[in-house]
Amino acid sequence: MPHVEMEKVEPLLEQYEPQRINLIPILQDVQETYRYLPQEVLRRISQKLRVPLTEVYQVATFYRCFSLVPRGKHVIQVCLGTACHVRGAPRVLDRILLDLKMAGPGTTNDLQFTVETVRCIGCCGLAPVARVDNKNTHPHLTQAKVGGLLKKYQDKAEASRTAKPDEASHAEA
Ligand code: FES
Repeated sequence: MPHVEMEKVEPLLEQYEPQRINLIPILQDVQETYRYLPQEVLRRISQKLRVPLTEVYQVATFYRCFSLVPRGKHVIQVCLGTACHVRGAPRVLDRILLDLKMAGPGTTNDLQFTVETVRCIGCCGLAPVARVDNKNTHPHLTQAKVGGLLKKYQDKAEASRTAKPDEASHAEA
């Protein structure tokens, strides 16, 4: 687990009245700040709001937008719904995992990327698609476009360390 910068917690908590009703907005802020909900931070929230830790965990595990394990800086959701599946999404997913040296969906060791699979993100006409960071939709993906897609989100230092010579010719998604 990465080091948790606890000094970020107090200013975040200061923005809210210490009341149970603020639990979800606080968790949303924590998720945004740390990209997950660190244990130590949940304990501090429980103290501050005087809400039992078990209840904080119940809320944290109920909503899909929260994660108890570190997530990557960029979250790539590969759609494996029917339309995307028949147009080659599994091959695109394989290529993403291969390029990121991952055995399956999850988070890369350097915390740059989290790869997830989802069922239909509502733009089947653009299949196969992937959505990055919940806002950028990449349409008509192919294995050849994967290099360009990853490059777009990789940190510059990381990109120059891992870039392969042939990636420059890949079309940007
Ligand atoms: S099946 Fe992929 S967007 Fe609908």
